[in-house]
Amino acid sequence: MDKIAIINLKGGVGKSVTACNLAAELATKSKSVLVVDLDKQGNTSKFFGWLDYDRLSVAEVLLGERFANAAIVEDTGLPGVHLLPGDMRLLRANRMILMDTTEPQQYRLRDALEHVAENYDYCLLDCPPDLDMGSINALCAADWVIIPVDCDEWACDGMDEIIDQIERVQMYYNPRLKIMGAMMTKYRRTKYAVDVIRRLSAQGVPMLRTVIRYTVKVSEAKSAHKPLREFAPKCTATDDYKALAGEVDEIVSNVDTEGGHNNG
Ligand SMILES: Nc1ncnc2c1ncn2[C@@H]1O[C@H](COP(=O)(O)OP(=O)(O)OP(=O)(O)O)[C@@H](O)[C@H]1O
Ligand SMILES: [Mg+2]
Repeated sequence: MDKIAIINLKGGVGKSVTACNLAAELATKSKSVLVVDLDKQGNTSKFFGWLDYDRLSVAEVLLGERFANAAIVEDTGLPGVHLLPGDMRLLRANRMILMDTTEPQQYRLRDALEHVAENYDYCLLDCPPDLDMGSINALCAADWVIIPVDCDEWACDGMDEIIDQIERVQMYYNPRLKIMGAMMTKYRRTKYAVDVIRRLSAQGVPMLRTVIRYTVKVSEAKSAHKPLREFAPKCTATDDYKALAGEVDEIVSNVDTEGGHNNG
């Protein structure tokens, strides 16, 4: 199971939309995918129709609930895609993890995911716009990071901090972690887009070749709780998420076969 954290400290850049649509596209390539919602806002869980405080969630997994408990993973209605939901219970889980120093704080998700590693080809970790214990656990569990970046004036805010955090995690906790790339979202040909590419290159951040174009269909599909490929099969962003799944799969298989990755 290849684990990909989708992270950016900036909110509203398309992390959750990417988690949902990348999962849907990978599934059409006959990959089985587990999506983990680490954001207390629960947007990805709501997208898949799961926000049920009577059921277990990622918060309980972080607090030690046995993940082998199949009841935790929810069916999404998309063949091949399962969800480990997240919601406001993550607030308490974050607090409890910080207070409990009897167990390692940063490896809880990694250790839990080992129980289901055989069941999935991919695990997509949808992170909050924050560096809380959920995000730290995601970076310590992940093999890869995708950093969605929107094309507005403040696109690179928090980029130094997230790169710094990724490097710290690589150095101290998870040497396997690799930046798959930053990925432009809500792309339009504006001066900001050109500027974002220039600034990210200057910072040495690798860029994914795929760019997700701006289209109102993304919000409409989200409101309809449908992946883009189902809601708007012919729209630009549908093509882009399909291309993203191809690029992700290509990068991961190159590493699996060659034991190396260099997209910088
Ligand atoms: N390619 C796109 N074109 C148009 N709108 C988009 C696109 N991608 C995302 N959006 C819109 O941007 C908003 C934020 O998207 P999303 O919720 O995925 O961001 P996020 O990074 O997960 O936010 P948060 O940090 O709050 O979790 C949503 O309203 C979504 O519909
Ligand atoms: Mg989100």
